[in-house]
Amino acid sequence: KRHLISAADLTRDDAVLILDTAEEMARVADRPIKKLPTLRGRTVVNLFFEDSTRTRISFEAAAKRLSADVINFSAKGSSVSKGESLKDTALTLEAMGADAVVIRHHASGAPYRLANSGWIDGAVVNAGDGTHEHPTQALLDAFTVRRRLVGRDAGLGRDLEGRRITVVGDILHSRVARSNVLLLNTLGAHVTLVAPPTLVPVGVENWPCEVSYDLDAVLPKSDAVMMLRVQSERMNAAFFPTEREYSRRYGLDGDRMARMPEHAVVMHPGPMNRGMEITAEVADSDRCTVVEQVANGVSIRMAVLYLLLGGAEPAVTTASARTE
Ligand code: CP
Repeated sequence: KRHLISAADLTRDDAVLILDTAEEMARVADRPIKKLPTLRGRTVVNLFFEDSTRTRISFEAAAKRLSADVINFSAKGSSVSKGESLKDTALTLEAMGADAVVIRHHASGAPYRLANSGWIDGAVVNAGDGTHEHPTQALLDAFTVRRRLVGRDAGLGRDLEGRRITVVGDILHSRVARSNVLLLNTLGAHVTLVAPPTLVPVGVENWPCEVSYDLDAVLPKSDAVMMLRVQSERMNAAFFPTEREYSRRYGLDGDRMARMPEHAVVMHPGPMNRGMEITAEVADSDRCTVVEQVANGVSIRMAVLYLLLGGAEPAVTTASARTE
């Protein structure tokens, strides 16, 4: 059984295949009817124990564009609030015939537990677990960087060898940062993390990246700068610099953006704290890919669902002949 739990599960060839498949999927969005019949008769369950806007909606859009049936489960308003366990929730979904379960959970390791429990038969996709990983976010980020820096068609089959990606902010609580470091490294990019010392995780010296505390020094050497949301809800106030101090030292404003090379892009996984890690001027500028990342997220999630559930036959070349 194939699952997607961690960016570390992907080889360079796996990752490039997903990015290339996502490029094919993106072409579906350019058609008058944005749908393929590839996963007709399959059921995808979105199992969300934590809030989400982008990930939940884009997995739903991705599954629907592949003609799968979609069941959306949100812990809020479900029997989880009466104390029902992950196991019993999973068994309930299994009884409804889930072919894939997309899970977001506040506990790091919950998707791994689900995939290895025997409670469900379907493929498990990690949509963000605690402070651990968010592999489809890393894939859509890599897809966005490849498109912007290499090109849509020129990028096919290519990795990110030699590109310099800087990830800035609350690394400590960021599953996005961890998955990005792993995946970008697999794709040959050079990653630098920039953060206040209190927001750098223990053991970061074992991650395949560099760490810096000087954003202004790193910006001129970056091809892409990924700003992270400050996750106040996971934060112990004692560890955190004041909002003013944080944005002064680690926030990206227009003056700082001007230090970046002309070709370099600004990224953010969303949701953004405008005025904290990124100013409105930067967030709304042409160099910021935040909205593009959301659109790319649908293509990446179509590729992941297709490769996990349908993958034996070509996605678009065959299916396009049967497009509804
Ligand atoms: N980037 C991201 O995971 O956003 P959501 O929390 O809105 O899904």
